Amino acid sequence: MKALVLSGGSGTRLRPVSHALPKQLVPLANRPLLAHVLRGVRDLGITEVGMVVGDHATQIRQALGDGAEHGVTITYLPQDAPRGLAHAVRVARPYLGDDDFLLHLGDNLLPDGLGDGAAEFRRRGGGAHLLVQKVADPRPYGVVELDGDGRVVRLVEKPRRPRSDLALIGACFLTPAIHSAVDAIRPSARGELELTDAVQWLVDQGVIVRATEYAGYWRDIADSEDVLAGNRRLLATIEAVRGGDVDPFSVVGPRVHIEPGARVVRSHLAGPAIVGAGSVIEDSRVGAYTAIGRDCVIRGSELSGSVVMDGARISGVIRLTDSIIGRAAEVGCGDRQAGYRIVSGDHSRIEVPG
Ligand code: TTP
Repeated sequence: MKALVLSGGSGTRLRPVSHALPKQLVPLANRPLLAHVLRGVRDLGITEVGMVVGDHATQIRQALGDGAEHGVTITYLPQDAPRGLAHAVRVARPYLGDDDFLLHLGDNLLPDGLGDGAAEFRRRGGGAHLLVQKVADPRPYGVVELDGDGRVVRLVEKPRRPRSDLALIGACFLTPAIHSAVDAIRPSARGELELTDAVQWLVDQGVIVRATEYAGYWRDIADSEDVLAGNRRLLATIEAVRGGDVDPFSVVGPRVHIEPGARVVRSHLAGPAIVGAGSVIEDSRVGAYTAIGRDCVIRGSELSGSVVMDGARISGVIRLTDSIIGRAAEVGCGDRQAGYRIVSGDHSRIEVPG
């Protein structure tokens, strides 16, 4: 079996971060989202990965190379524009040949793995095997109706009035039957070739399509709240590593990972947290669920629940919470009388105490 990881798209909901960084490379617990995706793929014993890429292809290639570091071999498959998930499958057809494959969205976090779904697909066969999870509001998702035997009866993309609370998660197991389906369907009202329409076409042809409920953690990393939630989930299970220097005046909690070359001076790191290689934390407090990237400088500050990307500098800022600070960004404390000074990029979001 191969894997097809979809990493094109535009990532509009994650602006401004996604202006400069494809959302699939956003760091969660200091590793790009795609590193977590490839770990799940590799854990299934799949080593051949087709990676569909769009406008941000160069950055994704630079970050992942040939995949060797992740134990896989990556073949890059350029998609000219985000024309839909089923279009991405069409782009990959020559690569996939007659193989079954795991389709994995490159912006979905599934840290508990896909072992049960893969086993179920192998055991029960069928033309496609979907994974679903109950959600409170299914309207933004592909929604699946099942019969009593777990067979898919109907799929609807983003229905206004959902007939079930089962949403498609960002991974499923497909067979070469999907290629005829992709050729048969027409673009949807939003102009995309929808995967849900392709799978519905299979169902209409009498092909057996099953779905099982996914029991693990699933998060579609679409916007900044998703980034913070995914980061929290990964840090919740982080183990203590003392790779860098911690001076005797600092206190470090039990679930803090300090990468080699980092320095902690007169600071309190409560954790769970991770501090990237080469970063300096001085006279600061780092609270729960904070990931600080490489070569950052944090001075005289207090932060928690945040993702701080490589090379960022934060000084003299107290109570910075639930924030995403981009690469080489600077957050500082100015003259107290002068009010707030902000230099922000397009689509930035800034919240100050009211
Ligand atoms: P989406 O999250 O549906 O789309 P998007 O990335 O364009 O984001 P937004 O809606 O915020 O603008 O895409 C899911 C995943 O599939 C994501 O990793 C991008 C990828 N994708 C492709 O590779 N090709 C496509 O044609 C589309 C639509 C998405």
